[in-house]
Amino acid sequence: MPLVAPSLLFADFNRTKHWLPQLEEAGADMLQWDIMDNRYVPNTGNKIKDIKFLRPKTRIFFDCHLMVLKPQKYFKKLQDFGADSITFHVETTKDPKNTIKKICDLGMGTGIALNNDLDVKKIFPFLPFVDIALVMSVQAGFGSQEFIPSSLEKVKILRKKINKEKLCCKIQIDGGINLQTGAKAVNAGADILVAGSFVFKHKNPKEAVLALKKL
Ligand code: DX5
Repeated sequence: MPLVAPSLLFADFNRTKHWLPQLEEAGADMLQWDIMDNRYVPNTGNKIKDIKFLRPKTRIFFDCHLMVLKPQKYFKKLQDFGADSITFHVETTKDPKNTIKKICDLGMGTGIALNNDLDVKKIFPFLPFVDIALVMSVQAGFGSQEFIPSSLEKVKILRKKINKEKLCCKIQIDGGINLQTGAKAVNAGADILVAGSFVFKHKNPKEAVLALKKL
């Protein structure tokens, strides 16, 4: 059974009363915030102020996916607003290991993300130091994209390496996740499924999360 992280990219924060209880009742394991700077990716994603707005309304783990250049600029504010973990893209800092330490020093969980156009080996050196290895199954920047099947090979390689080296980081996959692609990702060795449109465009977000959790 995978952990499930609904992405809030499509969440309407004027209708929180409608969808938040559904995600909590479904047992969503974390909520993923898609923070974008319109530079690393050509989009703006979730507003950081909405983290501060939502924090007092739920105890669900807030996982922040930073699709930005210079991610360390965001860490303190995200911590102040209630983030529980921060994942950044490996190629967005000169010294990923030190960047991971900066997140740790602020008391948050850590993650390193691999965009779809990068070789999985790029994140190998950092696996011993992070809680989450995020494999993008689309090119980062937009929701509702088609799942890219070659991502499954990266998950399989990571699974093998993590098991062999007895590392504790979890494999998270994000982009085009639904019941079909989610099942393939779990079979390949993914631990956490991130889903935006499948959950928020579903007629019943609670049912969508429950179905993903049963994979
Ligand atoms: C891409 C975003 C999306 C989002 C989920 O940059 O990170 O992957 O979380 O989008 P869906 O689930 O609609 O593909």
